[in-house]
Amino acid sequence: MSWNVFVTRRIPEPGLEILRRECEIVDVHPEDRVMTREEMLAAVPGRDGVLCLLTDRVDEEVMAAADRAKGFANYAVGYDNIDLEAARRRGLVVSNTPGVLTDATADMAWALLFSAARRVVAADKHMRSGEWNGWGPMQFLGADITGATLGVVGTGRIGENFARKSAGFAMPLLYTDPRPNEGLERDLGARRVPLEELLRVSDFVSLHPPFLPETEKLIGERELGLMKPTAVLINTSRGKVVDEEALVRALRAGRPGAAGLDVYAEEPRPAPGLVELENLVCCPHIASATTRTRSRMAEMAARDLLAILRGDPPANQVCP
Ligand code: DGY
Repeated sequence: MSWNVFVTRRIPEPGLEILRRECEIVDVHPEDRVMTREEMLAAVPGRDGVLCLLTDRVDEEVMAAADRAKGFANYAVGYDNIDLEAARRRGLVVSNTPGVLTDATADMAWALLFSAARRVVAADKHMRSGEWNGWGPMQFLGADITGATLGVVGTGRIGENFARKSAGFAMPLLYTDPRPNEGLERDLGARRVPLEELLRVSDFVSLHPPFLPETEKLIGERELGLMKPTAVLINTSRGKVVDEEALVRALRAGRPGAAGLDVYAEEPRPAPGLVELENLVCCPHIASATTRTRSRMAEMAARDLLAILRGDPPANQVCP
């Protein structure tokens, strides 16, 4: 077809191949970094569709600049980077990449939980420093995972998957979600409780809500203060779900005792003081970063972009 599409940053080849098979022009931003606003506004005019990333702010201005586009395929399950109201007004179709990254993201939440609980990063740093003077009974004491109470905030696809993976660790399971999760209650004896109770009782709290106006700073100073001093907070959802400045203060004060983060309120700049904290394990938003998952995301976004160009509903349509 004579379609002309734009991809805002290099993605795995299988996705680009799908686009190249059907489009005349597939331009990829030549530099492996987030595009500037000016670059974006200059790149989208005349395109039939755009494959964009969670790091691209796709708002009214970008949509207006994309004067020929039928829609945007977002290479992410979260789509808080896209102004859906503006897309609706303009009759633009938007898609995302759910499902294919569920396991990888839930696995990463566990990786953070294990690392924070057992102080893996601090111990690794110590080993590499050459300062280790041999086994010691008081070295790197961490928290038990088996048998500890697990609190899951948000039991959609990823939260439920994360919760199910606790089965091998005999963890009493609490969750909070606007809707009951009958599967988790039946299969794992999970109990749906108010957020406050979950925060007070859990040894580990993992956040999995979507980012919405209602979930912005869901975990703030008050909520952090409810957590046990020994508890560990994990966030692989969106950084803005946590009041990051309050988290810095709380971790400094040792309540909660530790945290594992993959996402930040203002990426790529975490709140001042955050990354200096010893009781924090922090990763640069890599929860979906496995070779297979990122390829499947690329294929999914590419197929959906082609559907949008054909005028068919994409398999993973979020708007309209
Ligand atoms: C998403 O898809 O929303 C993740 O944050 C990145 O893969």
